[in-house]
Amino acid sequence: MSRDAFPRGFVWGVATSAFQIEGAHDIDGRGPSIWDRYAAQPGLIEDGSNANVACDHYHRYQGDIGLMKSLGVGAYRFSIAWPRVVPFGRGPVNEAGLDFYDRLVDGLLSAGITPWSTLYHWDLPQALQDEGGWTRRSTADAFVEFADAVSIRLGDRVQHWITHNEPWCVSVLGHADGKQAPGHRSWPEALVASHHLLLSHGRVVPVLRCNSPGSRIGITLNTAECEPASPSDADRAAARQFDGELNRWFLDPIHFGRYPSDVIEYHERVGRLPRGMDFVRPGDLEEVHTPLDFIGVNYYSRAVVRSSTVPEADNEPRTIPAPDPIELTDMGWEVYPNGLTRALIRLNTDYAPSALFVTENGAAYSTGPGSDGSVEDTERCAYVKQHLGACLEAIRAGVPLHGYFLWSLLDNFEWAFGFSKRFGIVWVDFETQERIIKASGHMYSRIVRRNSLAEDRAA
Ligand code: FCB
Repeated sequence: MSRDAFPRGFVWGVATSAFQIEGAHDIDGRGPSIWDRYAAQPGLIEDGSNANVACDHYHRYQGDIGLMKSLGVGAYRFSIAWPRVVPFGRGPVNEAGLDFYDRLVDGLLSAGITPWSTLYHWDLPQALQDEGGWTRRSTADAFVEFADAVSIRLGDRVQHWITHNEPWCVSVLGHADGKQAPGHRSWPEALVASHHLLLSHGRVVPVLRCNSPGSRIGITLNTAECEPASPSDADRAAARQFDGELNRWFLDPIHFGRYPSDVIEYHERVGRLPRGMDFVRPGDLEEVHTPLDFIGVNYYSRAVVRSSTVPEADNEPRTIPAPDPIELTDMGWEVYPNGLTRALIRLNTDYAPSALFVTENGAAYSTGPGSDGSVEDTERCAYVKQHLGACLEAIRAGVPLHGYFLWSLLDNFEWAFGFSKRFGIVWVDFETQERIIKASGHMYSRIVRRNSLAEDRAA
């Protein structure tokens, strides 16, 4: 096998999420989600936009499947909009909403593309938020009902399930930092929410196993390598603490059935657990600690942590910009492929998951069509090649990395950044809905077809 070849059977995919691409926000019985509400508040979305239409994927999914087919990708990771399926969070199932995913899944299968469904990619039905959202334990029960309805309908054809996407973002960015829906600023809320997210994950896994026999089930986490800004003891301690919040707080309950004690102590010390861990009930952690078939890794950059930025109070920035980055993407995120190799190796060493998949990796660059209509996004090409090289390094080091999903198929609604950040390997003109495969899309297609980086490796 040549140095640049991926293992046989390596899964090559692209990823999206429902809220970011579907549009059709009030069609066929869809209810409002917390992101509709968040985007409607003045000043919260950078360009003042909303996702009411987005990529209009709800109506254009067949064309988008055609694009994937032309790229030659073998798998498509998409999410299922809870407010489309259970418009008010619990109660009656909206068959018209399920029909859409039925059509999507059948379309994918007939194009030879394996569907990978994420159940929660941040679009909680607003009706549940009105009752307290993820800070309420009953939301975990509602999630089980939703997952049950989805997997009864699709479980014969969808054989890959991801329960949650990035529960750290949902809990911390949504409830402590206020940077995402529902936009709250309370660490105690964030920690309660994180537990209910994990509990709902643990409870949904057996439901999926029952309704979708033989399927492979995992969860996607935004793991990042947390590096001390200097070798000083204080910075190293800060990096370990941030790693605890970001990574171990989720990985330890899933793999070992316990929250990391040093992180509990830290949260208590800085006043984030005013009533201790009273939201964890007997038996919860046994439910969370359920065997999985894979862990999904979303990786964009590393976290550099300095002790002075670790707060003794809430809502202080805890990470600092990387010193002397070689390159930043449009998000201001450092291009740091080695962090992906290290994150994968660390996950394998500390948690020994059965398999790992990179379920998101990609970069925001605004490059648009030139005078000849082609989109020459050379920076994204370099980013993808470098990060695929990082995947190969991890595989060589013995990591059971079985696939890679590029974020994203399409330019889309990038949450609080609206349409101002473009992650697609396909350009989308949001006025006309025209799609143009970018140079990175053509490059990815060659890599996918060859199952190798050969001739496409960054210099
Ligand atoms: C991840 C999200 C995804 C997208 C990328 C850029 O955190 O899962 O929806 O926004 O970042």
